[in-house]
Amino acid sequence: MGGDPTRSRYDRIAPVYDLLEWLPERGSMARWRKMQWSRVPPGRVLEVGVGTGKNMPHHPAGASVTAVDISPNMLARAARRAERQGRSITLLLMDAQALAFPDASFDAAAASFVFCSVPDPVAGLRELGRVVRPGGRIVLLEHMRAEHRGLGRLMDWLDPLIVRVLGAHIARRTLENVRAAGLEVEKIEDLAPMGMVRLIVARAPDRKQRASGAP
Ligand SMILES: C[S@@+](CC[C@H](N)C(=O)[O-])C[C@H]1O[C@@H](n2cnc3c(N)ncnc32)[C@H](O)[C@@H]1O
Repeated sequence: MGGDPTRSRYDRIAPVYDLLEWLPERGSMARWRKMQWSRVPPGRVLEVGVGTGKNMPHHPAGASVTAVDISPNMLARAARRAERQGRSITLLLMDAQALAFPDASFDAAAASFVFCSVPDPVAGLRELGRVVRPGGRIVLLEHMRAEHRGLGRLMDWLDPLIVRVLGAHIARRTLENVRAAGLEVEKIEDLAPMGMVRLIVARAPDRKQRASGAP
């Protein structure tokens, strides 16, 4: 994990991350986060890619939350936020693509704006399906490739440049990735035009699907 470019990018961005997102956060983003977390049931909850901890105020009351991130600098900020807000959250340095939890450790999982930057998103999503109990909910808030021919192609073209500067792919086909990872999509809510921001409510595979290894 040491020389991981995603980790280096987010370590670099960490000091200004909240500032960069100050304006959008005052617009739609805070509302989207609230919507997302209202769909996460309490119990043992995993948040992947916690960043600076902006979702903390929305975590379900009474939940036992474990949150992971690949960037120590983002995690350090999340730890400070948890302390400021008096929250008891387990924060761990971990790669979403190789979670160090046994199968079915959580009742639910959530991530916001994370699978645009995980290098192998299908591997990461498959890991969520593994560590959440069979049938448990996985709630994702993600931006993704526009479902518009011209704009989609423009996003494909700009993607390599944006990933270098900001560490995030703008042209990820996240819905397809969720399905490829074997998660059962229960509901899709379009939050921005052309499917560019979506709330995806999915379920971890049941025991039979797990045993067969079917996607
Ligand atoms: C755009 S930020 C979003 C942070 C937070 N979820 C939010 O909504 O503000 C993406 C976060 O995902 C983390 N991340 C990227 N790839 C990861 C991986 N493979 N494993 C764990 N975290 C990862 C980054 O370090 C960063 O904190």
